[in-house]
Amino acid sequence: MSQAPAPITVPHHVAIIMDGNGRWAKQRGLPRLEGHRRGVETVRTTTFAARDLGVKMLTLYAFSVENWKRPQDEVGGLMSLLEYYLKKELETFIRDRVRLRTIGRTDELPPGVQKVLHTTIEATRHFDDYTLVLALNYGSRTEVVDAARAYAAAVAAGHENLNDGSWATFRRYLSTADLPDPDLVIRTSGETRVSNFLLLQAAYAEFAFTPVLWPDFTKADLAAAIADYHRRERRFGLTSEQLVKPAAQ
Ligand code: IPE
Ligand code: IPE
Ligand code: MG
Repeated sequence: MSQAPAPITVPHHVAIIMDGNGRWAKQRGLPRLEGHRRGVETVRTTTFAARDLGVKMLTLYAFSVENWKRPQDEVGGLMSLLEYYLKKELETFIRDRVRLRTIGRTDELPPGVQKVLHTTIEATRHFDDYTLVLALNYGSRTEVVDAARAYAAAVAAGHENLNDGSWATFRRYLSTADLPDPDLVIRTSGETRVSNFLLLQAAYAEFAFTPVLWPDFTKADLAAAIADYHRRERRFGLTSEQLVKPAAQ
């Protein structure tokens, strides 16, 4: 009897550093903001592509704490786009049961963005099948400083015992406290750096780098990264022999 092929191992949580909008626009002689506009379209298609491929959680790095240093009109344009995108997607999120979450210092975002974020997060909080996490005004170092401060305050207030300090305890103070670590981190545009993204959470993630610029990123590119992930062996510090392999049927 012929055996069905083993199902492909799909990463539960995929995180993407969406990069290359500016270069995409420059190559076409267009303003950078046009690249960001096209990038938003890719956010939309990738959200549903990931879900179709069996991913349960998708984190998208949309705006870093360092990105405030960009020219003011670009920052303003990005914030307007974000607000427009969220307003437009609300109905789709509800229809398709997408839960929206955020990580990062969202309280420093413009009030209009905060408002629509709040509405969307509240309206989708009971969906438990698929989650989209937007990293907004996010940076790992800022996150760690915030977490350390909150942890120290908890110790001072007697809610935590410093002697019991462990990763399991400390991670509860990160903005990702109730999110699983990413299994696969993808960066587009050919850059092979992490740019202050999920430094602690990606401790054992697999990385995939693609030269494709974010506006050109397709479901096929995502599927290729997932297929590559499937071929890797995640050892978590163990030896190959120690890993429990499913018994051959
Ligand atoms: C990613 O594209 C979007 C954000 C960082 C907000 P970039 O704007 O960084 O595009 P490049 O790197 O200049 O091509
Ligand atoms: C990383 O991209 C941040 C986001 C994708 C939001 P950048 O384009 O800002 O990173 P660098 O400057 O190339 O490291
Ligand atoms: Mg960039």
